Amino acid sequence: MTDSVQPQMSVDIPVIDYEGSQYRVDFWVGQGRQYEDAAERLAIRRMLPANGGRIAEIGAGFGRLADLYAGYEQIILFDYSRTLLQEAVRERGHDPRFVFVAGNIYTLPLASGVLDSLVMVRVMHHLADVPTALRQLRRVMHRHSVGVIEYANKRNLKALARWVLRRQTWSPLSEEPVEFVRLNYDFHPVWMARQLNIAGLSVRQRYAVSHFRLAALKGRVDAEVLARIDSWLFAIGGTFPLAPSVFLQVGAADGVRAPATTVAELLRCPQCGAEPLEQRAEDRVACVQCNSVFAQRAGVWDMKEAVA
Ligand SMILES: C[S@@+](CC[C@H](N)C(=O)[O-])C[C@H]1O[C@@H](n2cnc3c(N)ncnc32)[C@H](O)[C@@H]1O
Repeated sequence: MTDSVQPQMSVDIPVIDYEGSQYRVDFWVGQGRQYEDAAERLAIRRMLPANGGRIAEIGAGFGRLADLYAGYEQIILFDYSRTLLQEAVRERGHDPRFVFVAGNIYTLPLASGVLDSLVMVRVMHHLADVPTALRQLRRVMHRHSVGVIEYANKRNLKALARWVLRRQTWSPLSEEPVEFVRLNYDFHPVWMARQLNIAGLSVRQRYAVSHFRLAALKGRVDAEVLARIDSWLFAIGGTFPLAPSVFLQVGAADGVRAPATTVAELLRCPQCGAEPLEQRAEDRVACVQCNSVFAQRAGVWDMKEAVA
């Protein structure tokens, strides 16, 4: 448990709400994005240790990428949307290695140092407060953890072309993030590198991914083949990313691994930041500092709202 009572954790940062959304069918199934999916999988496979103790995917949605974690002893799927997580439960709930946690990244309800690996893909572009989110990711890692983090690159070739042709008002070369639609941001690699450094995360590898996100090309070339060709450019493109997506392998310089053998030990109170929690029943954990109680409902640990 933390030694001192911490101030009420920040909850006033706007969050995009996927609750009740049909993200799987609206964005992936039959939407012509097999190439993006295949390229992302190749990037993750290269950057992420195939086996390990405990992994969490932050902003896992319905668990699109969860099969990539098959070599891990425990797999946490974490997301803000309870309904997307419930989809994941329906698909993977029979596997005892999975733990499903609903919560907000800004008050990440995972105990410090519990993750050996961490993945966050297609989430950063929704974050209004990147520094706070990165501090939380850093906190749950230890010095041997490996993180794979993706962000949307504002300095991509399509944005550069649109800007040169005056079809876009914002400059892809300016370093500040651009919010092109509410709660949808693109980031400049220099700005992102600075934020990671401030958060205490060191970048070990950088890949530029999805160079061929063009309808004409995607319609003509098999997605797996296109992704394979893209993968030849991952590392070289990563030296000066011009692709719309950037994948980073990150690590932390210090931090001790927390063993966490029970769910209560895995979790942290999102209300006051105390950790670990106390197991009160099979489906209840409690914070001994602020007395908040959290429940597991339909397979998902709901850390968004206390029941008492
Ligand atoms: C575009 S989806 C990507 C889902 C998954 N990573 C994938 O690639 O299929 C973005 C996900 O991030 C989650 N998300 C956005 N903001 C969040 C926050 N503040 N805390 C936790 N999850 C968040 C959303 O609920 C949503 O499931």
